[in-house]
Amino acid sequence: MSGLKHPLISRAIFPVAGKGTRFLPATKATPKEMMPIVDKPLIQYAVEEAVGAGVSELIFVTSSTKRAIEDHFDSNYELESFLKKQNKHELLALVQNVLPQGASCTYVRQSESLGLGHAVLCARTQIANEPFALLLADDLIHHEAESCLQQMVSAYEATGCSIIAVQEISVSESEKYGMVAVEPQANSVFRITSIVEKPKPQDAPSNLAVVGRYILTPKVMAHLVRVQQDKRGEIQLTDAISSLLQDEPVYALKFKGVRYDCGNKLGYLQAIVSYALAHTEVGSEFENYLQGSGRVSKDFSRLQKK
Ligand code: G1P
Repeated sequence: MSGLKHPLISRAIFPVAGKGTRFLPATKATPKEMMPIVDKPLIQYAVEEAVGAGVSELIFVTSSTKRAIEDHFDSNYELESFLKKQNKHELLALVQNVLPQGASCTYVRQSESLGLGHAVLCARTQIANEPFALLLADDLIHHEAESCLQQMVSAYEATGCSIIAVQEISVSESEKYGMVAVEPQANSVFRITSIVEKPKPQDAPSNLAVVGRYILTPKVMAHLVRVQQDKRGEIQLTDAISSLLQDEPVYALKFKGVRYDCGNKLGYLQAIVSYALAHTEVGSEFENYLQGSGRVSKDFSRLQKK
């Protein structure tokens, strides 16, 4: 037993069964979570964030076309012996550490596309009645000192309650997010008074939007089993959290960091530019390229002619 007041967050769920229709045809045979930001797939950023925050059991809720994710986190004997023979030790270490040391993976199938709530429910047995983290790899969060999930773990340790990451958005965008109302408070952790999935701007309870990081107590599962499909045929996690609010407090954390919505093309491109500029190998050359006099617009017009 740990000496801590609350159980540790040792498990994380990664829902990766989505079809990625916004990136077709790229995602016809490749999971959207495997799309790279420079040289690392989105799912690896999420896994590293989880493990860095103390998680050791990674639970992927997958579907039939997502084999590449399992392969990515497995060892690749042929590639490893090839790199060994070539004395490419740095690359070998890179490949061998895709799954961080001490972490283990479980794969659970979501056989029907019934939404985020249903994906979480598919991992019900695996969370073993313990609080767990939930990370949506589409939301890539750049951080300075502490990752978003690490900040959330600290908030969980202080409260013992479910924690949901939120950020301020323009209310005109509310139809893309779960939106929360909170009790006014001085710090960055607020008690949630209501939560609603993708309301119209005029119905949004505030300008605080849910982003894809959650720490949830196991009680949410009892609420999820009772959630009915919405008009799009989905079981919404937001509805279960709304119902959970009647049983126990749930907090919102306004995290420090920059979130990139890699679930759409613009956000994905913004992430690539930012991460490329910060990349140790190509960052400064890329910056020179972007700053080069008229270079980008010249390349752009050349591409347009094709
Ligand atoms: C999901 C959630 C939504 C949340 C969003 C964050 O929506 O249902 O409440 O705000 O993730 O990215 P999705 O983006 O999967 O439609």
